[in-house]
Amino acid sequence: MVRRNPNMAKLPTAYLFREISRRKKIFMEKNPTVKVISLGIGDTTEPLPPHVMKGLVDGARKLGTRQGFLGYGDEPGFSELREKIAQKMYGGKVDAEEIFVSDGAKPDIGRFQILFGNNVSVAVQDPAYPVYVDSSVIMGQTGGYDNSARRFDNLVYMPCTPENDFFPDLEHTPRTDLIFFCSPNNPTGAVATRDQLRRLVDFARNNNSIIIFDAAYREFISDPELPKTIFEIEGAREVAIELNSFSKLVGFTGVRLGWSIVPNQLKYDDGSSVKHDWNRVVTTIFNGASNVVQYGGLAALDDEGMKEMERLVSYYVENARIIKEALGIIGLKTYGGSNSPYIWVKFEGETSWDAFSRILQQTCIVTTPGSGFGMSAEGYIRFSAFGHRSDIEEAVRRFDKLLPSKN
Ligand code: MLT
Repeated sequence: MVRRNPNMAKLPTAYLFREISRRKKIFMEKNPTVKVISLGIGDTTEPLPPHVMKGLVDGARKLGTRQGFLGYGDEPGFSELREKIAQKMYGGKVDAEEIFVSDGAKPDIGRFQILFGNNVSVAVQDPAYPVYVDSSVIMGQTGGYDNSARRFDNLVYMPCTPENDFFPDLEHTPRTDLIFFCSPNNPTGAVATRDQLRRLVDFARNNNSIIIFDAAYREFISDPELPKTIFEIEGAREVAIELNSFSKLVGFTGVRLGWSIVPNQLKYDDGSSVKHDWNRVVTTIFNGASNVVQYGGLAALDDEGMKEMERLVSYYVENARIIKEALGIIGLKTYGGSNSPYIWVKFEGETSWDAFSRILQQTCIVTTPGSGFGMSAEGYIRFSAFGHRSDIEEAVRRFDKLLPSKN
């Protein structure tokens, strides 16, 4: 028999969103006639827009011709797509050859863990997208689990709460090799300002740390004062990697396409190139994103595709506005929800899972319990704005039953 990887035993039994769908399924089995509305997982619901769709279909057709057939491609992606990402998403601030096209930000996080190995120290925002913590645990970077604190011993947690404007207290944050940072933030919906990101970059530079900056929700930013990429910040090219994804931009959560950026200037302590090693990892354990899907990505970055992207994102932005307003009307204080698809709410006097279960029972709405993202989020609930408009409107009509009854 093979010995189990001991790190696996340190993880919660199921990944957060699998656990939520398990509970949703049980509820639906017990209540087969009710319409359950999901404001839980941030999964896109609207169909692929026509120009992007045409890119995918035409791309697939090309593969059925002698001239258009492609086999294995360059692992970092079509050079035309890398060039287009550099121009359309970064205005030329990054070079095409610093871009690695992938099957999404989440698998890239796993591959970055392989790149850095299990001898690095890691800091995460608390709360944080669970993949940063869980993948660090699987790699064995986290040490034991402290049950009373509900935290891993060797991870540095950077609380991000309303008290600190959802930005870590860097003066009291110990140095780590890696810092995972997400803006617009999943789950709190907070967006880091230019000044905050400047402080983060300075912190990483002073400590010789590397920031893994997750910008998967960048297109939800409409405020021109807010940075859409870490590379808008001076000095970031020496200390940051950026992750991104077409998932939330054009509805590719199932289609799968993303990219990472590893700047030429990013070096290890021995002066060698991080990009070189990333290329080695990508070319070794990844065969590149599907070529059909890359054709879809190319179409998404055409002028017509960019307009479709804007329309699609605006649709979810309006959903977020509707949810946020309705929560405000019933007297709840909300965070996020503008420049972000997530609305973050504290339910006083309840744990997150208790509030999750009560909301599901009382309103037949699935949410996400904040504590699933970290202990600083105990008592919070995340509402996702991804949904059909009619479902969002139906959900907010049920909000009059959202609060615990007073008796
Ligand atoms: C979420 O709901 O947090 C995300 O959709 C999950 C993901 O992007 O993997």
